Amino acid sequence: MDRVIIFDTTLRDGEQAPGFSMNTMEKLEMARQLARLNVDVIEAGFPISSEDDFGATREVARQVGTLEGAPVICGLSRVGLADIDRSWEAVKYARRPRIHTFVATSDIHLKYKLRKSRAEVLKAAVEAVRHARGYCQDVEFSPEDASRSDFDYMCDVLSAVIDAGAATINIPDTVGYAIPREWGERIARLRETVHGIDRVILSVHCHNDLGQAVANSLTALMNGARQVECTINGIGERAGNASLEEIVMALKTRKDFFGVETRVKTDEIFRTSRLLSHITGVHVQPNKAIVGENAFAHEAGIHQDGVLKEKLTYEIMRPEDIGRASNKLVLGKHSGRHALAARLKDLGFELAGPELDGAFKKFKDLADRKKEVYDEDLLAIVTDEATKIPETYELDYLHVISGTGVVPSATVRLRKEGQVFQDSGVGDGPVDAALAAIDAITGLKGRLQDYALRAATSGRDAIGEVSMKVDFDGTVVSGKGASTDVIEASARAYLKALNRMMHASTQRTKEVGP
Ligand code: KIV
Ligand code: ZN
Repeated sequence: MDRVIIFDTTLRDGEQAPGFSMNTMEKLEMARQLARLNVDVIEAGFPISSEDDFGATREVARQVGTLEGAPVICGLSRVGLADIDRSWEAVKYARRPRIHTFVATSDIHLKYKLRKSRAEVLKAAVEAVRHARGYCQDVEFSPEDASRSDFDYMCDVLSAVIDAGAATINIPDTVGYAIPREWGERIARLRETVHGIDRVILSVHCHNDLGQAVANSLTALMNGARQVECTINGIGERAGNASLEEIVMALKTRKDFFGVETRVKTDEIFRTSRLLSHITGVHVQPNKAIVGENAFAHEAGIHQDGVLKEKLTYEIMRPEDIGRASNKLVLGKHSGRHALAARLKDLGFELAGPELDGAFKKFKDLADRKKEVYDEDLLAIVTDEATKIPETYELDYLHVISGTGVVPSATVRLRKEGQVFQDSGVGDGPVDAALAAIDAITGLKGRLQDYALRAATSGRDAIGEVSMKVDFDGTVVSGKGASTDVIEASARAYLKALNRMMHASTQRTKEVGP
């Protein structure tokens, strides 16, 4: 087979990394975009890990997995039968559901984590696959910590689960320990040794602890793997997972070398990457391959000269290939609701009713303050609207006094259930003062753990996007706010975090994790 199956685990392995958690609305928004990107499989969650993860996986299966041409929707489970039941309950609504079950096969994990013998683990793996096959045909099995597992034992487990009905065998480098040549040889040896391996899809799942995740994934493909598990922007546990955009663009740009292709619509890559950043508040490093801010910027004079004469001199991919039509001017202050809706549709967001009203109001406010409104500005507005959580507190008014030799102070008015509350605060700086005023109203004290400010576009009138993580008495929540005024953006981000904390049902505590 010359086609590589792209299995996206942004919403599971990516989302379980600290700082990347998403609520159901956010997961749904991402899943819709992943479907537009045309990935083959979306691993939507680990349903038994929490009520919220279950609900989010089920909603992705219901709302995205039922669309025409939708990707396979997958739920992760350990080998416990209750885990598998829970996964099935969540993914069964999809046109093409998949159950993914895993258990560690390395002696280190068996001895210290599972406290089970090799024979017990083999038996549990076979029972799990059989149980899952009772629900659906599409069952995937992963021997966790495969790169450190005894080869012969792992082959025995894999032969047995194939016999029990697994359709995909995924080989994870759970701790990012493998080195490309060695990993490629391991994959090739598995293909020679495991009984029935030619009847199933062989997959890899590589972590990036030594910075080898993409190289290992590509080497595995060169040695016969035909599914790769990866995430947008390479997010995931610790140093992350293999980055989807790097794998897909390497296969596309070097098709002459790899000779395989994917179904991914590469011109959706940039938008998907930015959507994830907007949702999580975590931006990609500027020099990140494919999707970093500088990935297509030619700075050195000699390079610029070359590119102006002939792009091929220094450009191996075109920005358009990943859908990067940089900073396109779209709308101005006279543009109407229809124009906004149409442009948002081009960007992949179909907003109507109150969502469109909310986005239009924010657009008008912005267009009044800012001469030119770009796609990136709209993205900042619209992801805010689409992934809205109920606003217990709304910002009504903010007045800040700050300057050299002045004690910064702020007056804030908040709206809650139709009532208006006002208070003031002082602080080390204007942001601190604004947050102190909010605390004075709510009676809650948030401790700022992380604060990042970034301009959504270029220019002095650019929207400032603030992302922060706040600790409210042990509950850490994130929030984002956008405004041309960075103090207002900070206050909005803080309120987002506060509202998120109050909207307890969308918060989850992971009870278990792979
Ligand atoms: O890294 C890992 O081993 C995993 C498995 C659950 C596939 O994420
Ligand atoms: Zn993983």
